[in-house]
Amino acid sequence: MSGSVVVIGASSGIGEAIAKHYADQGRTVYVSSREQERADEAAARIGGDTHGIAVDLAEPAGIAAGLAPIEGPVDYLVIPAVLRDSNNLREYDIEGATKLAVLKVVGYPETIHQLIDRMSDDGAIVLFGGLAKEKPYPGSTNVTSVNGAVEKMMNGLILQVAPVRINAIHPGIVADSWFWEGKQPVIDAVLAKTPTGKPVLTEHIVDATVFLLENPSANGVNLQIDGGHQARNLIFD
Ligand SMILES: NC(=O)c1ccc[n+]([C@@H]2O[C@H](COP(=O)([O-])OP(=O)(O)OC[C@H]3O[C@@H](n4cnc5c(N)ncnc54)[C@H](OP(=O)(O)O)[C@@H]3O)[C@@H](O)[C@H]2O)c1
Repeated sequence: MSGSVVVIGASSGIGEAIAKHYADQGRTVYVSSREQERADEAAARIGGDTHGIAVDLAEPAGIAAGLAPIEGPVDYLVIPAVLRDSNNLREYDIEGATKLAVLKVVGYPETIHQLIDRMSDDGAIVLFGGLAKEKPYPGSTNVTSVNGAVEKMMNGLILQVAPVRINAIHPGIVADSWFWEGKQPVIDAVLAKTPTGKPVLTEHIVDATVFLLENPSANGVNLQIDGGHQARNLIFD
């Protein structure tokens, strides 16, 4: 395959690491941020044939214009974009809730809608949900909903994107994410209930993403990468 790799939400974290993996392989890579400057900075950090684009998935009407610089064919489309939303019913922030919901529930499919005709027939898409769809935590009111929506979104998309494949990853707490810096007690509490006893790291999520993109029979998979945390279902702790 000689087409490009597009990573929507690649100015930090998992998205930047996935983009770096493919740039290091000599692929043409497009990395996005909401701001062109941050996208360009990420492209410079990543190196190789990497190009920054500005796309805001919480403003879906503008997605087409943001993706316009991408020339086909696109082999792989990865969408890890997220806005951090902390929302509890007693202190409900409508603006944050709306942005996160639109970003994933409308922005993810609109991105695919805009790029599907530029994708290679043997291309693949990976979406990002998360463990919160199964295990809520204080503040995850909307995160739990939207990550559950990502799981079910594939049911509606799999036939429409065919023969392009589509899969989703649901990470547990990714311990080396910037978001978890300074929150070691939370990580330790999760590890105490994780069968492997080992933290999930960004490199594990990159490895799983590459598997879903490149395995020709991986299609319609919701892949939980959490050290077995979600499957741990003892009645008594
Ligand atoms: N890290 C974890 O522990 C964890 C756990 C479970 C699930 N996940 C999921 O894994 C994915 C990646 O997480 P991460 O920790 O790597 O995230 P991250 O480091 O916070 O990166 C999020 C990316 O999304 C971009 N973004 C923010 N708002 C956007 C918008 N409105 N439209 C388009 N892009 C936007 C950010 O770019 P700008 O801010 O520059 O615009 C950034 O590039 C997410 O979908 C998250 O839900 C992560």
